[in-house]
Formats: sequence, C-alpha cells, structure tokens
Amino acid sequence: MGNNVFWFIIAASFVAIAAFTVYEDNIDDKEFDDDLEEVTERKGKILFPFVSIVRFANTDCASANTMNGTCLARRECNNLNGTITGTCASRRGRCCIVSRSCGSATNVNNTYFTSPGYPAAFSGGQTCSIIVQRCNANVCQLRIDFLDMVLAQPNGDGVCATDSITITGGNTVVPPICGDNTGQTLFVDFNGNTAITITVTATMATTFARRWNIRLIQLGCDCPGIAPNGCLQYYTGTTGIINSFNYGTTSNTGLSASLVTGTRQIANLNYGICIRMEAGFCAIQYAQAPNDAFSFTVTGDVEGADNTVLGTQVGALNGGTCTTDFVVIPNPTVGTTGASVGNDRFCGLGFVTVQSTAKPFVLYVVTNGNEGATATTPPDVANRGFSLVYTQIAC
Ligand SMILES: *[C@@H]1O[C@H](CO)[C@@H](O)[C@H](O)[C@H]1NC(C)=O
Ligand SMILES: *[C@@H]1O[C@H](CO)[C@@H](O)[C@H](O)[C@H]1NC(C)=O
Ligand SMILES: *[C@@H]1O[C@H](CO)[C@@H](O)[C@H](O)[C@H]1NC(C)=O
Repeated sequence: MGNNVFWFIIAASFVAIAAFTVYEDNIDDKEFDDDLEEVTERKGKILFPFVSIVRFANTDCASANTMNGTCLARRECNNLNGTITGTCASRRGRCCIVSRSCGSATNVNNTYFTSPGYPAAFSGGQTCSIIVQRCNANVCQLRIDFLDMVLAQPNGDGVCATDSITITGGNTVVPPICGDNTGQTLFVDFNGNTAITITVTATMATTFARRWNIRLIQLGCDCPGIAPNGCLQYYTGTTGIINSFNYGTTSNTGLSASLVTGTRQIANLNYGICIRMEAGFCAIQYAQAPNDAFSFTVTGDVEGADNTVLGTQVGALNGGTCTTDFVVIPNPTVGTTGASVGNDRFCGLGFVTVQSTAKPFVLYVVTNGNEGATATTPPDVANRGFSLVYTQIAC
C-alpha cells in the first residue's frame, strides 16, 4: 500500500466521524453514567482514536429552561464551557447548552447570546458583542432568533439613539433596530468565511430594564429551513402574522424633535420579507391584524385621526402618495373582485386587504430617515408600523 493511499484512508476516516461525536467519556460521572457501555476507556491502549467507539449524532435536545441544547459528549461540552442539563442519545450524550455574553466568539451551532446576568435586567455600558464564525464550510446562513429582545425605544423620530443592535459582516444588509423585538427572526447570509458580528449598544445613562436572549442557528447551504438569499425575514406556513420591527400595542413614550408623541416605527429601513409558497398554494392575501386600530400606522398623524380614519379604508393610502415610509406588495389585486389595485406602495393609517399572485411571495419595507413630525409632510405622529396577517390561497 502506497503512502498516499495510507494517508488518504486516515483522512477519510477523520472526515467520516466529523459529523458525529466520538464518545470517549470517563466513567466518573455517576449521576449520568451508571448504564454506560464500557467500550473505550482502556488507559494507554488507545492507538487509534476511532477504534471501538460509540458514536451518536449531535442533534437538538430540549431542556427544562428556555434554551435547547445540543447532544454532545460530556468532555466536549466542558471544552466548550457549556452547561450540561441532562442526558441524550440513550444516556450516552449530554444535553449541552452553550451560552455566551459580551466580548465573546463562537463557532458552535445553537449558541445563545444573552445580556450580562440574563434574565435579570442589564443596565447598559460598553458595547456588547459576539463574533460568530461558521461551524463548518457548508454553512451559508445564520438564523438569529430573538427569543427575548427588549431594548430601549427609539427616540421620538424613530432613530435607535439610546440602544441598538447591529449585525455586520454578513452578506445581508441588516438595519440597526431597537425597542421590542421578541419573537422576530432574522436570516443573515454568511459572506464566505467572514464572521458575522452582533453588537448591542446600550446607553447606561438611560435607565431602562433591557435584556436579550438570542439563539444563533447555523444553517447548512442545503438546509430546508434556509431563507432565499437576501431575505432578512422568512416566514413559512400557510398563515401567519408579520410585524414590523418594534411593533407594539403601546405608543413610544418619547417625544419627537417637534415635541409631539414619538413613533415606534424605526427609521431608515429597507428590507425584504419573504414567505415560502407552500405546496398547493398559488396566491397570498394580506390583511391588517384585527382588533387593533393601530395595526397599520405607517405615515401620518395617528393622534389627529379619529376612529373613522384610523385603521379604516379612509386612512389607507397607496401609490404616489407614499414616498417616505411604505410597504411594497408586488402586483396587488382587490381580494373580492380580483381587480388590479394599480399601485404597489401602501402607507397611511389603514390598510385595505389585498391579494397577490406575484412569485416569490415577498413584502418590502421602506422607511426614511425621520419618523417624526418635523421633516415630512404630512407629519408622522405616533406611528407604530404594521402588523399584517398573511394567508396563502389554494390553487
Ligand atoms: C444547527 O442546529 C440546527 C437545530 O438543531 C439544525 O437544524 C442545523 O442543521 C444545525 N446546523 C448545522 C450546520 O449542523
Ligand atoms: C426547543 O425545541 C423545541 C422542540 O424542538 C421547540 O419547540 C422549542 O421552540 C425550542 N426552544 C428554543 C428556546 O429554541
Ligand atoms: C472556557 O473558559 C476558559 C476560562 O474562562 C477560557 O480560557 C476558554 O477560552 C473558554 N473556552 C471556550 C471555548 O470558550
């Protein structure tokens, strides 16, 4: 056997075990290890690390607290400074939670990035960041789940001046956001091997009970859950609710520069939200979320509008009137008649239900640099953004 062939076999063996954990735990963990198969630990006799070894897949494991772990060998979890919450893989593995806070780096799938002392409130201070390296060369995207994300509201003009979260280094443009974003999920493409950096800036001088718990899931290029390139958000399922960033049911308590009630809507947005077309569905309908008169307040004066305008057809604007802040829905039609709406921009203080057969299903969200009352006509007062219900329509 030639030298090359020998080394090829060695290399191939390593590759073959790369996706699995090689179980080579010490038998000293009485609590978990009482029924372990004694296969590997013969001190001084292991010549090949992968001979006579039990393997198991590194799958998800649910745990009792708010974080899910990954099934790893105990030693592997300790090396990652992970927290063991139980056993998995027929008690051969450990459910391991890897949680990091400020000034950290990770290349571990399913790392949680939390505020210092989470779930206690964080008073702020220096910027807090995590650098996320790909866990392997077949990873294309980082899925960022805001399991809990409460930062200070933007200033009254919609600018994230007190607190903000920024995400850089990826191939997807992510606007700085702030306020309440629990439940939002972002998809950021990796740019080759470049790390993605997530940075939270929280101004200590502003007293606010901020906190965050973010799950960072690395998605393989062939993963069925991966979002189409560039879609900052991606929804699956035949129906769902799409909220703009920092959408909420109370107004911003801050005032805008012209001393009127501030806006929750974030300034300087320009992103796409994609919805996976499910099998057997050919069109999509968008409607304002019900029982909430504020669920489409994108431009204009919310406080100056009475309930004949707010959340009604009267408050709804579209087309050329929408130049500052708007939602784009490609080639929309009126649901009941199928007639073309004729315009694809929507703004104002209400939203009339529309449908679209344009593929892929996508919404674009655009806001300008000022969500306050000073710079724009009509002025923006107390806008909240949007909460739209989408429903796919069968072919
Ligand atoms: C990371 O973990 C998630 C959830 O457990 C899984 O779907 C995904 O495939 C994993 N990514 C890689 C690169 O293994
Ligand atoms: C944990 O996993 C379960 C089952 O896969 C899932 O329903 C849940 O949302 C996960 N929780 C977190 C915090 O990721
Ligand atoms: C684990 O913690 C130790 C001590 O704080 C540190 O030196 C080491 O770099 C950490 N390892 C990882 C993978 O974070």
